[in-house]
Amino acid sequence: MASSSSSGMLQIKVYSHAMDWNKILGFVTVKFLTSQRQYKMTDTSPTTIPTLDSTRKLQGKVAIITGGASGIGEATAHLFANQGARAVVVADIQDDKGRRVAEAIGANRCSYVHCDVSDENQVQATVDWTVKTYGQLDIMFSNAGIVSSSDQVILDLDFSQFDRLFAINVRGMAACVKHAALAMVERHVRGSIICTASVVGSRGSKRRTDYTMSKHAVVGLVRAASRQLGEHGIRVNSVSPYVVATPLTQEAHKKEAEEIEKFFEALTPLKGIVLRVNHVADAVLFLASDESAFVSGHDLVVDGGFIS
Ligand SMILES: NC(=O)c1ccc[n+]([C@@H]2O[C@H](COP(=O)([O-])OP(=O)(O)OC[C@H]3O[C@@H](n4cnc5c(N)ncnc54)[C@H](O)[C@@H]3O)[C@@H](O)[C@H]2O)c1
Repeated sequence: MASSSSSGMLQIKVYSHAMDWNKILGFVTVKFLTSQRQYKMTDTSPTTIPTLDSTRKLQGKVAIITGGASGIGEATAHLFANQGARAVVVADIQDDKGRRVAEAIGANRCSYVHCDVSDENQVQATVDWTVKTYGQLDIMFSNAGIVSSSDQVILDLDFSQFDRLFAINVRGMAACVKHAALAMVERHVRGSIICTASVVGSRGSKRRTDYTMSKHAVVGLVRAASRQLGEHGIRVNSVSPYVVATPLTQEAHKKEAEEIEKFFEALTPLKGIVLRVNHVADAVLFLASDESAFVSGHDLVVDGGFIS
């Protein structure tokens, strides 16, 4: 099915039933006739047809995405590029996967940088490289994170795993916020910083004590940094997903993606939809863009009503 906007600037193709889950979501491709560049986005409402402006929410922006080689970060890298970002820097430790993401998006708009966020020097070098290469930094999506290999219940807490997890999920997150903010303050950029927390950043859990503690710390980081950076016009927010099938959760639950989705779908109050990485990326896009211009210090939960 195809239709055009009244201005004749847009040609919108709506493919229903392209994939099974698109029976629910719909699949919208927006083609700009002027630029001959194609933008794809999934839309939870098949009746919503994006306007020209609403499809270019990050026009000209420069973004770093840590953990961008996989899962939520990878989906967000594609979405940022599709929404007009001038440059998306994928910062990760999985070099092959990271390079493949950058190639898929296109060398003109995406670069891969090896960056272990637990090493502050590497975080600083990544931010410096981005600013030197692209002129400034507008968006930091600090998203890299891990889970420990064991259950980490309190009676059996392994502190070597605990320390490694905190070095990435907490210290790494703080290093990304710090160096992104320094680059923004120095160049008077009213930037947006988004951290990935979790639903377990605001409630307890039966396992994964270290992970739960780390995500509470991320929410604390966002609250403190948003108060301190507001005077520079910098917004700091977090996104808190419920369980999404990614390599991280597949490893943690020792289950295939379909099994994870089926299991957690049953626990989610919102029915008829399965949480996928694109839903989290859409929330990150909102926080990254001017659509959330007065939102700071907020934890945007993407959980289908799970923790309410
Ligand atoms: N998947 C979920 O259900 C879920 C729910 C809530 C929060 N989260 C959070 O979302 C974020 C992304 O996770 P995901 O589910 O997309 O998992 P993922 O494993 O697909 O992606 C995580 C990425 O982080 C990278 N990474 C790990 N350690 C790193 C380091 N030291 N330096 C740089 N990069 C590193 C990995 O290489 C990987 O590419 C994490 O912070 C995670 O805690 C995930």
